[in-house]
Amino acid sequence: MPEQTITAPDFIKMKERGEKIAVLTAYDYPSALIADAAGVDAILVGDSLGMVVLGYDTTLPVTMEDMLHHVKAVSRAAKRVLVIADMPFMSYQISPEEGLRNAGRFLQEAGAAAVKLEGGGPVVETVARITSAGIPVMGHLGMQPQSVHQVGGYRAQGREEEAARRMLSDAKALQDAGVFAIVLEVVPMGLAKEISDSLRVPTIGIGAGPDCDGQVLVLHDMLGLYERFAPKHARRYAEIGENMRKAISDYVEDVRTGGFPGEKESVK
Ligand code: KIV
Repeated sequence: MPEQTITAPDFIKMKERGEKIAVLTAYDYPSALIADAAGVDAILVGDSLGMVVLGYDTTLPVTMEDMLHHVKAVSRAAKRVLVIADMPFMSYQISPEEGLRNAGRFLQEAGAAAVKLEGGGPVVETVARITSAGIPVMGHLGMQPQSVHQVGGYRAQGREEEAARRMLSDAKALQDAGVFAIVLEVVPMGLAKEISDSLRVPTIGIGAGPDCDGQVLVLHDMLGLYERFAPKHARRYAEIGENMRKAISDYVEDVRTGGFPGEKESVK
């Protein structure tokens, strides 16, 4: 482990020091190299891979083999950042043992330093099993894309009082089970603040307002690379999709009109 590597316990120290934590998703070697050099604290190899890279409608078809392949590429690029592998649908829901076995594969085979999994009450035992084996776990509450069919769509969670109380108690149970951080996805900002203020471990928000201890964005959303859907909470920092389209159509035009290759690009 390089000396300057950011670790899971560093996340808790950053919260104690009041330092905001910047997390970004990435799924391949060149993006991870750039994200690491640009200073993010962690790269989450999210199962959003299924939608923004592999073109599925949901994250549900993503397999352990898909995730391992992409986590390996990101780990090869990571010099400083914490690499967190997202556990795909059905890799941890069947039993704590299966969850532990699959979590271990991400560290042993793919070079990740932590895993993330979705859910509260029903997965607390699995989280405890994984953390007690020495594997750092990030929790994930609020909107849980792997439960899209049960919930009936992608929508904010924790708006009703009972659901809000349940989320707070799930967050505390996850903390007791040993998570080093919890993602809060599309959660009302007041509730996200209450949860953040009640926990020792940091909350990492996505669509959960400014009072979380850190933020995470999906790389393709913030770069304008995924054009099928633009979540309201994702700020666009660039229009890479638009720029790619222009570059590629310029290339096509140059080939068709004989403008490429020129003398400079030709071997004498
Ligand atoms: O899969 C993913 O990218 C995620 C983030 C949106 C938190 O879970």
